[in-house]
Amino acid sequence: MKILITGGAGFIGSHVVRLFVNKYPNYLIHNLDKLTYAGNLANLSDIENKSNYTFIKGDIVDGDFINNLFEKENYNAVIHLAAESHVDRSIANPIEFVMTNVIGTVNLLNAAKTHLTKANSAFKKFYHVSTDEVYGTLGDTGMFTEKTSYDPHSPYSASKAGSDHFVRAYYDTYKLPVVISNCSNNYGPNHFPEKLIPLCIYNIKNKRQLPIYGKGENVRDWLYVEDHAKAIDVIFHNAAIGQTYNIGGHNEWKNIDVIKLLCKIMDEKLGRENGTNEKLITFVKDRAGHDLRYAIDASKLKTDLAWLPSVTFEQGLEKTVDWYLKNEDWLNNVTSGNYLKYYEEQYTNR
Ligand code: NAD
Ligand code: TYD
Repeated sequence: MKILITGGAGFIGSHVVRLFVNKYPNYLIHNLDKLTYAGNLANLSDIENKSNYTFIKGDIVDGDFINNLFEKENYNAVIHLAAESHVDRSIANPIEFVMTNVIGTVNLLNAAKTHLTKANSAFKKFYHVSTDEVYGTLGDTGMFTEKTSYDPHSPYSASKAGSDHFVRAYYDTYKLPVVISNCSNNYGPNHFPEKLIPLCIYNIKNKRQLPIYGKGENVRDWLYVEDHAKAIDVIFHNAAIGQTYNIGGHNEWKNIDVIKLLCKIMDEKLGRENGTNEKLITFVKDRAGHDLRYAIDASKLKTDLAWLPSVTFEQGLEKTVDWYLKNEDWLNNVTSGNYLKYYEEQYTNR
């Protein structure tokens, strides 16, 4: 089996690539990544010399490049994770999200479709990795199921919804063998420090303010990234073609409670007096169009494929903090250059 994994140098992709390379030594894993600010080959340094792993630098927006790659490599499957992934960046620059998330996905679908019609084609599956944010926002109750109507609010979620619709259109129209999963918020090692949890780990470590949007009452359903990678493995191998699965951690937390727990864990780990880090919490202007609450009903995945998350949020968060404190070089590397300038500008312009 030769599998093209896109976005494998990013946060979730790096965990998926590592899992597949180590667990399936007979598979050939090609990691295609443009290496944007969010892509980092250091995420994969432990497997870069494995004989079943190949890195390819490239842009999924370049249709000719993608077509030639499929022609040359005769892939059996694609696991597609490459994307622009940060909501705040999508509010500042939506076009980039349309290019990578919509056009890039359609380029991959098109190349797979063209390839499928060739006599020598060995193509079996196009697995599209998506987000629960396509469903929009919940009130105080209820959960997203696979039947919830799409209602995206941010340019990020709109671009992911667009890509999901194209994946289903290629299944309905061209019989491209597709599978989709929609997952809740991930956290864990290799997460670029612009998303809430790694940003606040970086800021606590450096005694910087912790910017909480609005009143901090928005709720997210957190999943440890290795559990997401395991769910992708299970779905990739066992889901019927045309199926969609929701993936979630059964871990609903208000943002303010996430940050208070993080402050407490890091008071202990950094030897600071209890309550020290909480003083860094700063309420800032709310995000435009901020979705109030996400919660995933993952019972279909549990019933059909026996997947369940393996760690609680408290366990996962402690593992995550330990990883960031142990991997100072990683954090220093990704926050060098214009990192701080970008955030200063973002908060003064919001
Ligand atoms: P990330 O931003 O950490 O990584 C994205 C990767 O894609 C990077 O390595 C980047 O270099 C690469 N990339 C970006 N544009 C590219 C292009 N044009 N061509 C080739 N490579 C390109 O993102 P992530 O958090 O790891 O998310 C991965 C996928 O999972 C995305 O599709 C995202 O929508 C989805 N997802 C993320 C979450 C989450 O909580 N992070 C939750 C559910 C679903
Ligand atoms: P984020 O990590 O950006 O993920 P998403 O927007 O995809 O859910 O944000 C998680 C939650 O934290 C979301 O409700 C926005 C909020 N948030 C803050 O309060 N402050 C921050 O600095 C960031 C980045 C996010």
